[in-house]
Amino acid sequence: MASRSLATSVGKLALRSPLIAASGTVGSVWEWAEVADVRPYGAAVAKSVAPEAWQGRPAPRLAATTAGMLNAVGIQNPGIASWVVALKPRIPGLRVPVWGSAVAGDADGFVLVAEGLVSAGVTAVEVNLSCPNLEDGEMFSFCASRSSEVIGAVTGSVDVSVGAKLSPNTPDVVGVAQACRDAGADFVVLTNTAFGFGLSLSDRKPLLSGGVGGYSGPGLKPLSLRCVYEVARAIPDLGIVGCGGVSSGADVAEYLVAGASAVELGTVHLAEPKAGIRITNELVELMAKLDVESVADLVGTVRSW
Ligand SMILES: Cc1cc2nc3c(=O)[nH]c(=O)nc-3n(C[C@H](O)[C@H](O)[C@H](O)COP(=O)(O)O)c2cc1C
Repeated sequence: MASRSLATSVGKLALRSPLIAASGTVGSVWEWAEVADVRPYGAAVAKSVAPEAWQGRPAPRLAATTAGMLNAVGIQNPGIASWVVALKPRIPGLRVPVWGSAVAGDADGFVLVAEGLVSAGVTAVEVNLSCPNLEDGEMFSFCASRSSEVIGAVTGSVDVSVGAKLSPNTPDVVGVAQACRDAGADFVVLTNTAFGFGLSLSDRKPLLSGGVGGYSGPGLKPLSLRCVYEVARAIPDLGIVGCGGVSSGADVAEYLVAGASAVELGTVHLAEPKAGIRITNELVELMAKLDVESVADLVGTVRSW
C-alpha cells in the first residue's frame, strides 16, 4: 500500500498529497499544527485576511445542523499587517506549505493583502471571492467581470500561484471560472460554503446572529461536486481544488474522479483536527481496492452512461 503515489499538482503547483486543509478551519495553520500531524497534507490554507482588522460578527456564530453546520464568523482577522508580523517567522518552521487567503471589498484591497501574504512566505494565494458573511454588497463570485477584475489585479501583482474560491450559489459557475482563468488564475477552489439558514423553535430566533450564514459539512458535497464536474468538463486545462463535505477517503476519491486534482477538508477538522491521517489511510486503501497506483490515475476519470 505504501507504494501508492499520492503526489499531485494543482495548476503549476506540485503537492505531496491531494489533501489540503481548508481556510477558516485550521486557524492560521500554526495553532492547528501544534495539535495535528500536518504531514498527510499537501498544503494548509490560513484563515482569510483583510486589509484591516475585522472583529467579525457577534455570537452566536456557529450552529450544528442535521448534516453539517452553519457559520457566520464574518472573517474575524487581525488585518494583513499584523498577520504578516505573526506568520512570517512561523511559516518556515511549519512542516506543510502554507497558502494564504485574501478577502477585501475591492481589487486594490485584494492586491494589498495578496502582496502581504506573499511577503510572509505563502506558496499560493486563494482569492476568497465567495465569503457569505459580509454585510455589504454582492459576492464577487456571482459576477464574471468583477471576479475577473480582482483576479487580474492579483495575478498581475504576485508571482505565486493564484486560485479563485467560488461559491456553490454562483449562478454561472462555469462562466465565472472561465473569467478567472482568462484573468490569470492557476486554479479554482470549488467551493466555499452555501447560503444556509436555521432557526430555533423555542424562541423563534435564527440560529446565527447574522441570520443567514454559510452551510458546510456532508450535505454540501453534492452541490460542490456538481461545480467540480461541470467546470472540469468545460475547462479541462484549469486546476481544480474540490471542497465541500469531505469526511472520508471515498469523498476525496469522488472529487478526484469528478475532475479535481486536490481536495480541501474543512468542517471535518472542527470535530477531528487529525482527520488527515485517517482520510489518507482510507484513500490509500481505496486506491488498492480500485487497483490504481497514483492519484493522477483517478483525476477526471468520470465516465458517461
Ligand atoms: C467556521 C468556518 C470558517 C470559515 N472561514 C473561511 C474563511 O475565512 N475563508 C474561506 O475562504 N473559507 C472559509 N470557510 C469555508 C471553508 O474553507 C470551506 O470552503 C467550506 O466550509 C466547505 O468545506 P467543508 O464542507 O469541508 O467544511 C469557513 C468554514 C467554516 C466552517
